[in-house]
Formats: sequence, C-alpha cells, structure tokens
Amino acid sequence: MAEFAVVDRAIPAHLQTPLQVGSLILHSRVLQSPLAGVSDRSFRQLVRRSAPQSLIFAEMAHAGLQLAGRDRWEFLPHEQPIGAQLFGDQPATLAAAAQQAEAAGAVCIDLNMGCPVSKVTRKRGGSALLREPELAIAIVQAVAAAVSIPVTVKTRLGWEQVTILDFAQQLEAAGAQLLTLHGRSRSQGYSGQADWNWITRVKSRLSIPVIANGDINSPADAIACLQQTGADGVMCGRGSLGNPGLVGAIDRSLKTGEQTPELELRDRLQLAREHLLLLWEDKGAAGLLQARKHLGWYLADQPDYQDLRQHLLRSEDLSQSLDLLDAAIASVVC
Ligand SMILES: Cc1cc2nc3c(=O)[nH]c(=O)nc-3n(C[C@H](O)[C@H](O)[C@H](O)COP(=O)(O)O)c2cc1C
Repeated sequence: MAEFAVVDRAIPAHLQTPLQVGSLILHSRVLQSPLAGVSDRSFRQLVRRSAPQSLIFAEMAHAGLQLAGRDRWEFLPHEQPIGAQLFGDQPATLAAAAQQAEAAGAVCIDLNMGCPVSKVTRKRGGSALLREPELAIAIVQAVAAAVSIPVTVKTRLGWEQVTILDFAQQLEAAGAQLLTLHGRSRSQGYSGQADWNWITRVKSRLSIPVIANGDINSPADAIACLQQTGADGVMCGRGSLGNPGLVGAIDRSLKTGEQTPELELRDRLQLAREHLLLLWEDKGAAGLLQARKHLGWYLADQPDYQDLRQHLLRSEDLSQSLDLLDAAIASVVC
C-alpha cells in the first residue's frame, strides 16, 4: 500500500499507511463516531470539510424502524466514505436493513453493541448484546452474509465486568471485519476515564483492525493512545461536539506532524452560526431546536459568553439567534 507523504517519528510507521477493512480501503485512520441526535447531515458536512478521507457514520438507526420506512437513507457521493450504524436484536431484520443501507451507498455496516441507553438495551440491543454473545454472533453472521460491504462492530469492555477478550474473538470469528472498542463498560456509562489497557489486550488477540475509542480529544491523545494500544486507528466522539474540526486536526497531525491551531473565538462563533443555518435549511423548526445544544457546545468553555449561551438556548426563532451571534461576532476584539 502507498505511504502518506510525510512521516513523523513519534507515529508508528504502519499508521501512516491506508487502513484496509475487508474490501474497503480507508485513507485515514481517524474516524468520526456515530452520535445519536448529533451526526446528522449538517454535522457531517462540517466534519467532512476538514477530514475529507475519514470514515464517518450516519446516526444510529433501529433496523426494524428503518425497514418500516421511518427515515430514508441517502448517502451522497460527497459524503463518502460514510457508514451506516444499526442496532436491533433480530438477525434477519438487521440483515435486511443492512442491505438497504448498502443499496443507499453506505461503505460499511457498523453493528452497535455498545449503546448503554436503557431504551435500547431493554430491547436486547446495543450493549445488551454483551450479555448475549450467541445472539451477537448470529447477528454478525446474518449481516455479513447479506451484504458485500464490510461489517464492523462497535462495542464496550463488557456489561459490568470486562468480558471483551472472548467477545471480541467471537465477533471476529463470526465475520466482523473491524472492531471499534470504547474503553468503558456499559455500567460506567460515560464516566471516569476510558481504560485503553484493554484495547491493547484486545488488539494483540485479533487479526482484524481495532479502532480505539474513548477520551481521544486531541492529536496528542490520539498519538498517546495509538502508541500505548497498538490500535489501527482512533475514533472521536464527544470531543467533536462544538469542535467538528477535531477529526481533521488529528488526521492531519498523524499524516504530516502538523498541528492545527485552535479556532479563534470569532471563527468559532462563525462556525456555530453556519451550523445553525445548515440545521435550519435541512430541518426547519426542528433544526432550530436541535441547534440549541450545538450552540451550547460551541460556547461551553467560554466563560465570557455564558449569557449569550443562555440566550441562544432559549431563542425560539432563527433571526433572533442570528442577531445574537452576529452581535457577538462583531464585538470580538481581534
Ligand atoms: C450524544 C452522544 C450520542 C452517541 N451516540 C452514539 C451512537 O449512536 N452510536 C454509537 O456507537 N455510539 C454513540 N455514542 C458513543 C460515542 O460514539 C463514543 O463511543 C463515546 O462517547 C466514547 O468516546 P468519547 O470519549 O470520544 O466521547 C454517543 C455518545 C454521545 C455523547
């Protein structure tokens, strides 16, 4: 495989080559995680701008609801490479939904076996599959047999206790072609620190690529994690909230050693404004409501802008939000 142009000594050499996932070749080893309620078309557009080669995912979809036609998938050429993430507990339903995603242009199918939310686990989906390895295996086998694109799994260390070592090997044997591992158990939720040591151990046992996930919020985190775990790549989650350039910044750093400067406040406000407009254009009033949380994230670490943040969180129409942001942008002292 061709090597990327510039090599930084701190980065293991194999990480500067493309990543092969079954028949799929990824030209970036930095992935954007699926984020329910977040990774819609608007968010993805902003991530994609600075990360043209990273694999990104559409929002997680319930296989049964997807088949029932609740939402229609449409993965456009400029969104590529993009994967679909599914959850559910019925192998045949998941397989049929995966076929639909493949037909809509997804480059891979990711099976969610890590979501801790009770409305998902109550129905034996997400991280509940950590407690039902036979069902998890049947799902991977059924989906892998149904599509010609790679099938990947995203999971956690275990339900309460760590069970990932055996589980990961079972998933690989069932036909998973990449494993993304979030270094927390289901019972940890999102608290505490992700334990990358388990990622190291899983990586040493599998021959499919392993992607490390959990607390990778900067290029330095990514390099530390890759060096420590030997993982084949990293996936960013919460670090991209209010910072959709994170994946691109890490990718650039891995490929070239170059650091991307943090956005100046004015640019961050401009980006928040653009995100708001994208959501409005895509979803109208529903997009405005969704924009509130994004605007909150863009301003979360700005102590001088908490009043603005509160006003934006309460704003009920587009022009009011735009006026607030425009005034803030105009008032930023260079
Ligand atoms: C708002 C939110 C939504 C999420 N939605 C999904 C999802 O749909 N599918 C999934 O696999 N993980 C989902 N996750 C988990 C993240 O993808 C990621 O595994 C987790 O946040 C750990 O990575 P981080 O420390 O980089 O955030 C979600 C997390 C958050 C905070």
